[in-house]
Amino acid sequence: MHDTIAAVILAAGQGTRMKSATPKVLHQVGGKPMIYYSLEIAKSICTVPPVVVIGHGAELLQAALKDDARFALQEQQLGTAHAVQQADAFLNGSSDLVIVLYGDMPLLTAETVSQLVELQRSNAGPMTMLTVVSDDPRGFGRVIRAADGSVGAIVEEAQCSPEQLLVKELNVGVYCFKSSWLWDTLKKVEKSPKGEYYLTDTVALAVAEGLKVQAVSLQDAAEAIGINTRVHLAEAEAVIRSRNNQHWMLAGVTIIDPTSTYIDSDVQIGQDTIIYPNTMIKAGTIIGRSCRIGPNSVIDHTIIGDECQVLASVMEKAVLENHVEIGPYGHLRKGAHLADYVHMGNFGEVKNSYLGPHSKMGHFSYIGDAKIGENVNIGAGTITCNYDGKMKHPTEIGDDVFIGSDTMLVAPLKIGKGAQTGAGSVVTHDVEPGSTVVGVPARKLEKKENRG
Ligand code: UD1
Ligand code: CA
Repeated sequence: MHDTIAAVILAAGQGTRMKSATPKVLHQVGGKPMIYYSLEIAKSICTVPPVVVIGHGAELLQAALKDDARFALQEQQLGTAHAVQQADAFLNGSSDLVIVLYGDMPLLTAETVSQLVELQRSNAGPMTMLTVVSDDPRGFGRVIRAADGSVGAIVEEAQCSPEQLLVKELNVGVYCFKSSWLWDTLKKVEKSPKGEYYLTDTVALAVAEGLKVQAVSLQDAAEAIGINTRVHLAEAEAVIRSRNNQHWMLAGVTIIDPTSTYIDSDVQIGQDTIIYPNTMIKAGTIIGRSCRIGPNSVIDHTIIGDECQVLASVMEKAVLENHVEIGPYGHLRKGAHLADYVHMGNFGEVKNSYLGPHSKMGHFSYIGDAKIGENVNIGAGTITCNYDGKMKHPTEIGDDVFIGSDTMLVAPLKIGKGAQTGAGSVVTHDVEPGSTVVGVPARKLEKKENRG
C-alpha cells in the first residue's frame, strides 16, 4: 500500500517526579535523550517529519532537538486529546494515517509500531491501539473488549468500576488513526470530570459511530514502560543495555561479561572484537574487527580500526587506525589520532595530535598540539610544553626522530627528520634534521653521542 503516514509525539507534560531541571524526555537512555527512540521510530515509518508536542521546557526541547522534528506548542496541558490536537495545523490533510507516540517510552520498538500500522491498514474502522496484559496496572487505562473481540472502550483508572479495575489488559497510549477521522473526532472529545480532554475518549466515539477499534497486544511487556521517575530511568537503561549487548553478540562480538559492559545505542562494533568487563562504549564510537577492548576502558565518540588493543584506557573524540595498542592507563583526548601500529604504553596522554605509523610512546608522556612522523620514539617522561599560560603552540617532529627520556619540548618547536634529543634536555629551539641536541637549554652536539 502506498498510504502516507505522519507521527505526533507527546512531550508537553512536566515530568514532575523526575525532580529535575532538565525536561524528562531529554534525560538520556543508552547515551541519547529518551525522546530520540520515539523520533527514530517515527522516522523509520513515516512519510513526513514528526511533530513533537511541547509545553513544559519547550525552549530546552526545541534547542536540543532542533531540526530533528517540527514543534507544536501546547501552552496548557489540557490532556492527551488536546495535545494531539495541537498538531492539527501541521498534519491535517498531509497524511492518510497518524501514529501517536509518547516521548517517554524509549523501550517501544519500531516492529511493534509497524504491526499497529499494518493492522490499521486492514481495519475498516478508524483506529488501532496498543495494549499490554499485565498484573501491575500502573495507573493505566483499562481496555474493555466488546463481544466480537474488538475494543469497546478505554476507561481511565479514576473512572473504573470495581470490576473494571480487575481488567488486566491496559492501554499503552500508542495508536494509529485514520487521519481524516482523527482530526474531525478530536473536536468532539468533551472535557472529562478531571477537566482534561482524553485521547482515549476517541474509542467510545468510534464505537458510538458503529466503527471498529482494533488492538495489537504487546508480546514483551517491557516495551510499555514509560519513564516517570529516575527509578524507571535506570530500569529502562538496563533493558536497553541488555538489548544492545545482545545485538552485538549476535552480530559476532564477544562480550565476556554483559552485566558489566555498557554499550550505548549509537555505536558500531566489528566482528570478532572482544569486549572485556567494566567497559563503557559511548555513543558515536565505531570499533573495527578483531579488536580487544578493555577491561576497564571508557571509549567515547572515538573511531577505532581493526586489530587494535585498548587496555584500561580512557578516550574521547580520538581516532585509532589499525593495529594500535594503548594502555594500560592511556588517555586520549579530543583530536588524538594514532596511525597504524602506534604503541602507547602506560600513563600517556595525547591531545589534538597526530602520531605517525609505528611511532612509540611507552611511558609517562604528554603530547599536545603535535604532529609526529613515522617511526618516532618518544622516551619516557617526554612532555610537549605547549601552553605558555596564554596560548597553545604546536610541535612538529619528523620521521625517525629519537626523543630521549624526560625531554621537555618547549613549543612552538620543529624537530627535523632523524634528529635526537638527549635525556633530560629542555629543547627551546628548532632542531635540524639528523642532529643531536642535549642539555638545558638544549644545544647541538657536533658529534653524535650515545642515546640517552
Ligand atoms: C494516558 C492514557 C492512559 C494510558 C496511559 C499510558 C489518556 C487520557 N490516558 O494516561 O489510558 O494507560 O497514558 O501511559 O490518554 N501529555 C501532553 N499533554 C497533555 C497531557 C499529556 O503532552 O496535556 C503527554 C505527556 O507528556 C506524556 C503523555 O502525554 O508523554 C501521556 O500523559 P500522562 O499524563 O502520562 O498519561 P495519562 O493521561 O496518565
Ligand atoms: Ca495525565
